[in-house]
Amino acid sequence: MKKIVVDHLKYKYPLGEELALQDISFQIEEGEFIGIIGKNSSGKSTLCQALVGLVPHFYKGAYGGKVIVDGLEVKTHTIAEISLKVGMVFQNPFTQVTGSKMTVYEEIAFGLENIGLPREEMRRRIHEVLKLMKIEHVKDRSPFDLSGGQMQRMAIASIIAMKPDVLVLDEPTSQLDPAGSEEVFQAIQDLSGQGITVIMAEHKMEKVAQYCNRVLLLHEGKLVDFAAPEKIFSRNDLETYGVAAPVYTRVCKALGMKKQGCDSYPVTLKDAELALRGSLG
Ligand SMILES: Nc1ncnc2c1ncn2[C@@H]1O[C@H](COP(=O)(O)OP(=O)(O)O)[C@@H](O)[C@H]1O
Ligand SMILES: [Mg+2]
Repeated sequence: MKKIVVDHLKYKYPLGEELALQDISFQIEEGEFIGIIGKNSSGKSTLCQALVGLVPHFYKGAYGGKVIVDGLEVKTHTIAEISLKVGMVFQNPFTQVTGSKMTVYEEIAFGLENIGLPREEMRRRIHEVLKLMKIEHVKDRSPFDLSGGQMQRMAIASIIAMKPDVLVLDEPTSQLDPAGSEEVFQAIQDLSGQGITVIMAEHKMEKVAQYCNRVLLLHEGKLVDFAAPEKIFSRNDLETYGVAAPVYTRVCKALGMKKQGCDSYPVTLKDAELALRGSLG
């Protein structure tokens, strides 16, 4: 089933001089884990916000085409209606914090109270997401007394506690060190394994290559390509778009070693190792 359909989406911010999104069309199946890549200002955040309805409902501006999420047309539904199906984690975790809660636990409870969840179910979900995001030990701390990484994980926890069908994450690991990023990717992969559809804007190409089943490449508000990581990162024109392929891919390209049985280059350490072993005989 098509979980997301974007059809000739065009969008200009009220004060923008050019279209931030220029005639974008694509479709996403239920349960996919999609990476959105592209250099700064290519439109990644704007596209994320269009999937949750902040574009156009919050930002206003000129809007054309259609975004349909789980059968709901974003333009003709309120953000409240859309948010029951789609959760979004913002690029900067500070913008996500309510600012009115004394503890991490209460911060995560906030969204659940709003949807009127029974107390017992609420407690169960909060403990589940605290554990998943590895922030159980800070549950009684103030949300403003956390490291950047902890705050980012709290922001993710409070969204996934709502159990959205679709999860949109805008550079969710930007504040995290390599170990923290890996944990977040694994937790999100678990969610994806449970059937949640995940769309993530991300700069860490090694991670995108390892975890995403398809990658959407944006450039100046246009969709350049939407395909498997191997196909995207094997493109010869990536530099034009200000994107660097994973280091494994670059090494294999330099050595002319394609992925075994494929016409594309390896994008993960494992596939690079297999290709190298294969070529050594
Ligand atoms: N609130 C805004 N008002 C006007 N223009 C904006 C606003 N937010 C982003 N833009 C512009 O829209 C384009 C896409 O930005 P953005 O979606 O933030 O890109 P990315 O997330 O890939 O860095 C850029 O040219 C940016 O300057
Ligand atoms: Mg952005």
